[in-house]
Amino acid sequence: MKRKVLSMVLAASMLAAALVGCGGSDAAPAATEPAAEAPAAEEEAPAADAEAPAADAEAPAADAAAPTGNKVGVSMPTKDLQRWNQDGANMQAELEAAGYEVDLQYASNQEETQVSQIENMINGGCSVLVIAAIEANSLSTVLEKAKSAGIPVIAYDRLIMNTDAINYYATFDNYKVGVTQAQYIIDTLDLDNVDGPFNMEVTAGDPGDNNAPFFYNGAMDTLQPYIDAGKIVIPSGQVDFATVGTPKWATETAQSRMENILSSNYADGTKLDICLCSNDSTSLGVQNALAANYTGDYPIVTGQDCDIANVKNMLDGKQSMSVFKDTRTLASQVVKMVGQILSGEEVEVNDTTTYDNGTGVIPSFLCEPVFADANNYKELLIDSGYYTEADLQ
Ligand code: BGC
Repeated sequence: MKRKVLSMVLAASMLAAALVGCGGSDAAPAATEPAAEAPAAEEEAPAADAEAPAADAEAPAADAAAPTGNKVGVSMPTKDLQRWNQDGANMQAELEAAGYEVDLQYASNQEETQVSQIENMINGGCSVLVIAAIEANSLSTVLEKAKSAGIPVIAYDRLIMNTDAINYYATFDNYKVGVTQAQYIIDTLDLDNVDGPFNMEVTAGDPGDNNAPFFYNGAMDTLQPYIDAGKIVIPSGQVDFATVGTPKWATETAQSRMENILSSNYADGTKLDICLCSNDSTSLGVQNALAANYTGDYPIVTGQDCDIANVKNMLDGKQSMSVFKDTRTLASQVVKMVGQILSGEEVEVNDTTTYDNGTGVIPSFLCEPVFADANNYKELLIDSGYYTEADLQ
C-alpha cells in the first residue's frame, strides 16, 4: 500500500515539480489544496490508529515497551519566531484531527525550560515526543529518561545531537536551503557570464543549532567556485562559520554585527552587492542595518522561512528572496510518522545517510525547500492558502 501511495505521489510530484512539497510525497497538494493533506484524508493516516494507538513490540529502539496512551508531547523552542508558532499550531491541529491528545509547549528559547517541559511530558504519560530543540546538545539527560520509559522521540526540524534516544528526524533538506540561496544569487547576478567582482557579506545562524552549518555549507560550497574565480569578494574578510554565526538567531545580534561591517568597510561608498543571510530573523537585522547605515545601490538579500514581516519586505524591495519551507507539509509528515510509530508500521523515511547525531545516522525524512520572491509569492504563499493577501498588507 505504501508503494502504491508513493508511486501515485511521485507522479503527482512530477506534475507539480515547481511546487513545494515534502520529499516528493506531498508536493502537489501542499501548494494547492492544503486541506487534502489533513492526515485523516490519507490512506496511511494515523486516524485509524488513533482509536486504539497500541504499544507495539516493534516500537523503535526504546528500552521499555512503549506507553499505550494516545498523548503526544510537542516541544517547540520559542514563540518569538513566527515559524515555530505555525509549526506548533499545525502539529496540534493535525494531531487532534487524527484523534490524539496533544501536550504542546513552547520553551521561550530557554534550554532549562525545554528540559523541564519534556520531563513533564514524560511523567504526564506522552506516548511519543516530537521535539524541536533549542540547543542541539542540551537534551541528552532528559531524553535518557524518555528512552528508559520506552517513549520514542522524533527530532523536529533540528537534529538533537549526541543521544541515542532519537528514533527519527523530520526536517527540510537543510543543505539544499543554502544551495537554493546561493543559486538565487548566481542566477540573479548571472555569475556564470559576468565577471564582477561583487562584494558579499555573510550572516549565518546559531552555532548551537545543528541546521545552521548545513545552511551555511550549502550556500558557501555553491558560491566557492565564484569566490575562487574572484567574481565574489568579501571585503570584511569575515567568512568562517564561527565568525559569521548568530547566537540564537537573534535579529539584534545580526544587526549590530552588520552595522560594524558597514561602518568599517562600506562607509567610503564601497558598493555592497550581496548579503547572504541564512534565515529571515537574521535577514531582518541585516536589513535594519542597511536602512540606517548604507546608501548605495541596494544589495541582494537572502532569507529563509517566508515570515510575514520578511514577505512584506520582499514586496517592498528590502529582501530579495526567502526560502519557503511549508510548515504544513513537515507537520503532516511528522503526524504520519507518529501514527506509524504507534501502530508499529514501518516508518516512512527518505534519507538514511546524511544526519549522524554522534551516535549513528538517524533515519530521516527530508522535505523539499523552494525559493520565494516577489514574482512567485502569490502562487506559493497565497494560492496555497499559507497566507492571505490581508496577512501581507
Ligand atoms: C530552522 C529555520 C529557522 C531557524 C531559527 C532553524 O533551525 O530550520 O527555519 O529560521 O531555526 O528559528
